[in-house]
Amino acid sequence: MARCVHKIELLAKSHDREGFDCGSEPLNLFLKQTARQHAERGISRTFVLVDEAVAAPKPIVGFFSLNICQIKSGSLTPQEAKKLPRDVAGVRLGRLAVAKANQRQGIGKTLLIAAMGKFIKIFNSAGGIGLFVDAKDQDAKHYYEQFGFVAMPSNELELFLPVRTIQEALITRG
Ligand SMILES: CC(C)(COP(=O)(O)OP(=O)(O)OC[C@H]1O[C@@H](n2cnc3c(N)ncnc32)[C@H](O)[C@@H]1OP(=O)(O)O)[C@@H](O)C(=O)NCCC(=O)NCCS
Repeated sequence: MARCVHKIELLAKSHDREGFDCGSEPLNLFLKQTARQHAERGISRTFVLVDEAVAAPKPIVGFFSLNICQIKSGSLTPQEAKKLPRDVAGVRLGRLAVAKANQRQGIGKTLLIAAMGKFIKIFNSAGGIGLFVDAKDQDAKHYYEQFGFVAMPSNELELFLPVRTIQEALITRG
């Protein structure tokens, strides 16, 4: 059997959006109906993980989307908010999903590491205090917490991963 070579690409027409199913209809619909429009309008960017060896239309194994966001530093913990101006910029991990058939194989973790790498590129060019995510439920919250995301005091389903944690995670991985 041919070896599967995972590659992360910007969402394009060559990807099979219709065939994707992560078990969450809002996330499936975002990928099918909204992600490309958002990319065209500069609202967000969606990246997909595919098997490089497969011909188009390439099945999507997983995806994430990112957008620039602005937040009030007062919504962070007092320790994180210290010495920050009132309004600060960050990057929001708007969506993260893995196809049902590929869950629990480390793909979500691979996508999160890729999102951190994309954040660092933005950070190096324009700053940003870290990655933000809205967990859809308690399960998703626990998932993100394993990677160092911390719940915001104002909303326990909104989580924050500070830039220093991202840098440490990427350095540790080499
Ligand atoms: C949540 C999701 C992205 C995780 O992706 P995944 O590829 O299945 O997860 P991984 O294989 O990377 O898991 C890494 C670790 O998290 C754990 N984990 C996986 N899913 C979890 C969950 N829902 N809650 C808590 N921990 C979880 C795994 O046990 C694994 O740890 P281990 O391998 O050291 O035991 C995926 O299950 C998914 O798409 N679910 C449906 C959509 C969704 O809930 N998205 C989150 C949006 S807020």
